[in-house]
Amino acid sequence: GTVVLAYSGGLDTSCILVWLKEQGYDVITFLANIGQDEDFEAARKKAESLGAKKVFIEDLRAEFVEDFIWPAVQANAVYEDRYLLGTAVARPCIARRQVEIARSEGAQFVSHGATGKGNDQIRFELTCYALYPEVKIIAPWRIPEFYTRFRGRTDLMEYAQKHGIPVPVTPQAPWSMDANLMHISYESGILENPKSHAPGDLYLMTKNPEDSPNVPDVLELEFRNGVPVKVTNVKEGKSKDSPLDIFSYLNEIGGKHGVGRIDIVENRFIGMKSRGIYETPGGTILLQAHLDMETFTVDKEVRRIKQGLGIKFSELVYNGFWYSPECDFVRFCIAKSQEKVEGKVQLSVFKGQVYILGRESPKSLYNEELVSMDVQGDYNPCDASGFIRINAVRLAPFFFYILRLLHE
Ligand code: ARG
Ligand code: SIN
Repeated sequence: GTVVLAYSGGLDTSCILVWLKEQGYDVITFLANIGQDEDFEAARKKAESLGAKKVFIEDLRAEFVEDFIWPAVQANAVYEDRYLLGTAVARPCIARRQVEIARSEGAQFVSHGATGKGNDQIRFELTCYALYPEVKIIAPWRIPEFYTRFRGRTDLMEYAQKHGIPVPVTPQAPWSMDANLMHISYESGILENPKSHAPGDLYLMTKNPEDSPNVPDVLELEFRNGVPVKVTNVKEGKSKDSPLDIFSYLNEIGGKHGVGRIDIVENRFIGMKSRGIYETPGGTILLQAHLDMETFTVDKEVRRIKQGLGIKFSELVYNGFWYSPECDFVRFCIAKSQEKVEGKVQLSVFKGQVYILGRESPKSLYNEELVSMDVQGDYNPCDASGFIRINAVRLAPFFFYILRLLHE
């Protein structure tokens, strides 16, 4: 049979490629460019030299931003109050294209290099089953013949040497990384001890705020339908207006000022806790700006309901259910809530922080006259007395309630 392998160009998936061939499969490799720093041409040559029947390398960056990051922005998606889901939103994007390739190439199998303990295997495979129900999945890290043969990096290196797989020359970082346009995650290895601090040179996307510039960058972010349509650097007068350019520019500015670093312990879907370190510079700026524009333009009660849906959405995405009836429904409702999220937010980015400076919107529900301390407006303060008394009904014990009635 033919298998489409999600190939990264690294040691693990190179060994998987050769191993799959050894098992008698024709192997097509698929490498998605979702903004990770990678020598894609070198990866192509490597896959070809290892005997891939066909090599797909595709730039999915624009669709990653528009179809996956933007819905997350609309949702204010955050898992367990802190994690912005940079890996979780990338998986359905990669797997979607992978099953498309599998279908068009007439391949019945897909394969990936995710471990048997993590979230990624679930996200990857649920997407495949949702979009290509007849597909058969080969997850080598869950196949005893594979994982007993490759018990660690030394086994992989040895196998690589024997099969002409180029072994990495640069020393391996003592942790595992997952990088894309939205974030870089770091876990495993020396980070597994939750008490030990991350070394300063771990972070690749963001500067340490201690060494970041002493002058802020001031940005204006313009939203329509709850997604950014333009970013302008106010002092430099420079602006970007395509989704990919906007997001990349926010990464650049956020990275320069050390925005969006977190170090957390999280709950994996599979039931264990894991320690993860993340940097999400652009996503963190966007979250703050979007929250601001949303509260400015969306009705109070709609916002409340939508907030609950955002939490639901985050859990679904974390757990791998991007393509599910319930996530479809939740995304639809969230998108509906964003119809009036339109306008401009000005903010400054400085020393790891995002400071909102001001906002304006043609759809604003803010009524300056209504809220003003200086004008009466269309509001009768006397009405507030009854409003407060009615709310107090529940709060006073029955006895005092009767007493007050008698008094009046
Ligand atoms: N713990 C994060 C998540 O589940 C990051 C996973 C990183 N994946 C990886 N293959 N290194 O979304
Ligand atoms: C992996 O297990 O492949 C990485 C970690 C995760 O998916 O949670």
